[in-house]
Amino acid sequence: MEVVIRDTKEDAALLTARLIEQELSANPFLVLGLATGRTMEAVYGLLVRMHQEQGLDFSRTVTFNLDEYVGLSPDHPCSYRQYMQKHLFDHINIDPRRTHLPNGMAQDVPTECRQYEQRIRNSGGIGLQLLGVGRSGHIGFNEPVSSLRSRTREKALTPQTVAQNSAVFGGPEHMPRWAITMGVGTILECRRCLLLATGREKAEIIARAVEGPITSMVSATALQLHPDCTVILDEAAASRLEQTAYYRWIFEHERHWEGFR
Ligand code: GLP
Repeated sequence: MEVVIRDTKEDAALLTARLIEQELSANPFLVLGLATGRTMEAVYGLLVRMHQEQGLDFSRTVTFNLDEYVGLSPDHPCSYRQYMQKHLFDHINIDPRRTHLPNGMAQDVPTECRQYEQRIRNSGGIGLQLLGVGRSGHIGFNEPVSSLRSRTREKALTPQTVAQNSAVFGGPEHMPRWAITMGVGTILECRRCLLLATGREKAEIIARAVEGPITSMVSATALQLHPDCTVILDEAAASRLEQTAYYRWIFEHERHWEGFR
């Protein structure tokens, strides 16, 4: 795991977008794993600008989102499909047939989950997976005690997650209680992970995820097992970490960060 601390949330989002741009430029056929949430909106805004102003090309890119709410159709305004259309897909030259999210309306959810895994395998596997983190420590919707080897499946959302995400639904009573999410095991198979977290409200969970012991109580700790995971933070989200001087030293000295400092 590498930890990179930027001064502001804007700088953290910019570094994330530039790393995605670097991967896409090196491989236009990149299979990109995508995340939702407020944190990612800045990253998608920057990718849209890179497409519009510098011609960043998504025409051959394949995407797989981490999760979708159960019971929401793709055209529901609060579905993650609509989130992706609004913040990214409608503004770039991506082929809609190459964008994938779990089907929250599937009649047979276990079959939908198996097929989602199969579609990821058929695409050659995820090259770069973008991740946020919930305050419960979830990646995707892998709530506490999700198996570290879990695959795509239906998960019940914790009260904390309902409280965290219900504002966009106009209150908890309107929010789904289940989601289909890639599993922790699914996420660990991608070639590279980028986790972005910003703001003071993420500081405690980031300290546990990065410096705490690996535990299924905090799914994000499983990323310590990943061979190529970069955690990108602003000062506020990094404020409860103990080893910030060390992380900064690494960023200043590792050759692969040249051009990003
Ligand atoms: C949702 C998503 C997660 C995401 C989290 C963070 O719960 N399922 O994948 O990491 O939101 O949200 P935010 O960026 O709004 O804090």
